[in-house]
Amino acid sequence: MTQMSPHVEDVLGTVDRGLWRRVARHGSRYRKFGLSMMIGGILIAIVESLLPLMSGLLIDAAIDKNVVQITWYSVVYAVLSIGFCILVWCFIIAAGRLATGMAHDMRRASFVRLQELEFAYFDKQPAGWIVSRLTSDCRKVASLMPWFLLDLCWGATFLLFSSIAMLAIDWVLGLCVMAVVPLLVVVTIFFERRLLKSSRLMRKTNSELTAVYNEGITGVRTTKSLTRECENIEEFESVSQSMRDYSMLNAVQTSIFVPIVTSVGGIGVGIALSVGGLQIEEGYGLTIGMLIAFMQYAVLFAMPVRELAARLSDLKGAQAAAERIEGLLEREPEIHDSEEVRHRIEVAAAGNQSGVADDGGDPRIKTIDFKDVSFWYKPAEPVLNHFDLSITPGETIALVGPTGGGKTTIASLLCRFYEPCEGGIYLNGVEYRKRSLHWLQSSLGIVLQEPHLFSGTVASNIAYSSPAASQEKIEEAARTVEAHDFIMQLKDGYGTEVGEGGGRLSVGQRQLIALARAIIADPQVFVMDEATSSVDTETEHHIQRGIEAVLSQRIAVVIAHRLSTVRSADRILVIEGGRIVEQGSHKALLEAGGAYMALYRQHFAG
Ligand SMILES: Nc1ncnc2c1ncn2[C@@H]1O[C@H](COP(=O)(O)OP(=O)(O)O)[C@@H](O)[C@H]1O
Ligand SMILES: [Mg+2]
Repeated sequence: MTQMSPHVEDVLGTVDRGLWRRVARHGSRYRKFGLSMMIGGILIAIVESLLPLMSGLLIDAAIDKNVVQITWYSVVYAVLSIGFCILVWCFIIAAGRLATGMAHDMRRASFVRLQELEFAYFDKQPAGWIVSRLTSDCRKVASLMPWFLLDLCWGATFLLFSSIAMLAIDWVLGLCVMAVVPLLVVVTIFFERRLLKSSRLMRKTNSELTAVYNEGITGVRTTKSLTRECENIEEFESVSQSMRDYSMLNAVQTSIFVPIVTSVGGIGVGIALSVGGLQIEEGYGLTIGMLIAFMQYAVLFAMPVRELAARLSDLKGAQAAAERIEGLLEREPEIHDSEEVRHRIEVAAAGNQSGVADDGGDPRIKTIDFKDVSFWYKPAEPVLNHFDLSITPGETIALVGPTGGGKTTIASLLCRFYEPCEGGIYLNGVEYRKRSLHWLQSSLGIVLQEPHLFSGTVASNIAYSSPAASQEKIEEAARTVEAHDFIMQLKDGYGTEVGEGGGRLSVGQRQLIALARAIIADPQVFVMDEATSSVDTETEHHIQRGIEAVLSQRIAVVIAHRLSTVRSADRILVIEGGRIVEQGSHKALLEAGGAYMALYRQHFAG
């Protein structure tokens, strides 16, 4: 076997055992199912390797017309068969428990991790990618584990016991059959490697296909409006074509592999049959029953080799999936409370003080200062350069300026969705990384540029951050932003389902609900990023007074699309290229006749 070991190493060597050990940890809660599967595998192999022997004995007894023996052997054979059935039933249940339990735990752990990860992670990972980590990868990895455990124990035991049985029946014939094993291993490895490669290609194209489908569906409106249907169909066809090619390749390889393995196994059987037959013909050697028993062993002998190779290549095939899941689970969120802050949170929780934030610090946000803040999404492209901004208590700041100027970035930094690359943001003079992240974010009322609603009713969306809110409070918040009337016109009023992502509402309606959602939480600080950009001018005009009332007395950072909504801000900053190019009140800025004046003219020119 020495000349084959490099190949065996090739298969075994690329199985990352450390990785699989880490994956196996997710199954530790289901250890007893795993253990029972392994024991089950061993028992099944023992029973299975006894069955041919029993049938051989039965045949010999029949030839001898020995009724007592026939009866006994039949009973034992029947008991073994029933035992076999029960074992199979048990381990299918255990395998199911192990696989579903593990998949559930892994999905849960990944979901928890996703909730903790910083915004930047989601910039880099497309949603579809994450969704398939949570669904197909978890399922694939988890469903593999029980079968791997089972086949490993079963295969090894079966090989051992059937070898013993064959050698015991006739050691010369037994060696003939076993001589084929090395050849079998080589052929199997040869084909498994090719099969693995083609099935990898198949899966890769499959995910490309899914992506094309996805974009085709989600972007269907844009496609139609830009009449790009033909190009999309061409793109789809080329991906679909390669999918078909790889699938064909895989099917052809399988169709060659299975018969070859079977016929290699057949060589051993053939040798044994002719030698054994000759012996019987010449009147010595095996009985007919034992020859038949032997034949069965010889035929079955190839099976565990094939199964083991298949499981190993499954493992290799799922390795990428396992790596992706572990990569996600082991990824530490980049934005999180420091060791020191976590310690203070624990102390504060134990102290049970009232009137303090969860980290034991000042619960009020009085001032916010950006000091010398530089920030970039990609190192080579700074978005903010030494940015300074001081916000005084109760001040409403409006950010205006051209698209891409950095307004959203400033808001995201304030919300600590991202952290400054250089410099710092200070709350009441304390750098915000020294405060609790949860305290900060729960003190902010954030309305994002593209508000997201969750599947559920209008009311549950408004009460998203305060699920205990009464119907009156929900309606009050909706009235403040003039959303009450349109909500009442919906089919089920506040009980109307908004659909996935709020898809059944217009963008403007979603924005109003998102505003109500921020207001109901009564946050200390408001951050609004073009919160009313898709609301019609008239409605916006109406809600203006309500919003102003909400914003007075608190700090607010409002990014506005329409200049008419920023007039009442205490201070207007014109942001261009990541810098404040001008600031002051509406009146002062108009008088200054600079960048703001130009924007204002443009805006009202139409
Ligand atoms: N997630 C992101 N990853 C990389 N670059 C980004 C990201 N978000 C914004 N940018 C870039 O940062 C700059 C400022 O964007 P943004 O703050 O959204 O501007 P505004 O809100 O004023 O339109 C733009 O050049 C934009 O391309
Ligand atoms: Mg923006």
